[in-house]
Amino acid sequence: MSIRTLIAGNWKMNGTGETLHEVKALLKDMGDPNCDVLLCPPATLIARMAAMSGRIAIGAQDCHANATGAHTGDISAEMVVDAGGSAVIVGHSERRTDHDETDDMVKAKAEAVLRADLVAIVCVGETEAERDAGKALEVVLAQTAASVPASATAADVVIAYEPVWAIGTGRTPTLADIAEMHDALRAALTERFGDDGAKMRLLYGGSMKPANAAEILALENVNGGLVGGASLKAQDFGAIIKAA
Ligand code: PGA
Repeated sequence: MSIRTLIAGNWKMNGTGETLHEVKALLKDMGDPNCDVLLCPPATLIARMAAMSGRIAIGAQDCHANATGAHTGDISAEMVVDAGGSAVIVGHSERRTDHDETDDMVKAKAEAVLRADLVAIVCVGETEAERDAGKALEVVLAQTAASVPASATAADVVIAYEPVWAIGTGRTPTLADIAEMHDALRAALTERFGDDGAKMRLLYGGSMKPANAAEILALENVNGGLVGGASLKAQDFGAIIKAA
């Protein structure tokens, strides 16, 4: 079954108006890519980047579960729509760790993203201790079951498998380990969502870079990447897009 690849960049808390030249360079270099491309800058840049080009979709890195209200510092999925965004990352491990986000909270945020007619990129992943204890599959499948809303479809939910110990460290699982996890996710999602689960995009994230992107993206149930550090430089992100 052919599933269109998605290469998504997560700028995290990086980027100002000065960084927009990287987006201009990317637009110039990337030609007509063979995949969907999404960049998730800090919220302060969403509107400006969304105005730059329709060839790169723009998303947010988080949102609140509510549409409006007394939640100082938060933004809602509806506000992401208003800024021109089309997707929201929810449940990134840095949110789960730094802000104590639980699976229930992640699910509520994903539901908010769907309520706003955006695409939710739901992140899951095991810690190094969990992998060493032989619990990676169990942990990730439980997180996925609890974080993905019941109403998810292949059109509006993307799963990003990001081993916590691979994020920003330059280390990646073996190809066999990535394949094992993605195959298990595909089986679980197909069992739960039927045809939608069979078609839902499964991204790999964690130290993806030009040097390893092609081999990871060639795995059967890897339908794209969620790229942190390497998405900040047009040259690196462009090379990953070309590898797709
Ligand atoms: P990294 O981050 O590519 O810098 O490892 C990935 C992510 O956190 O989404």
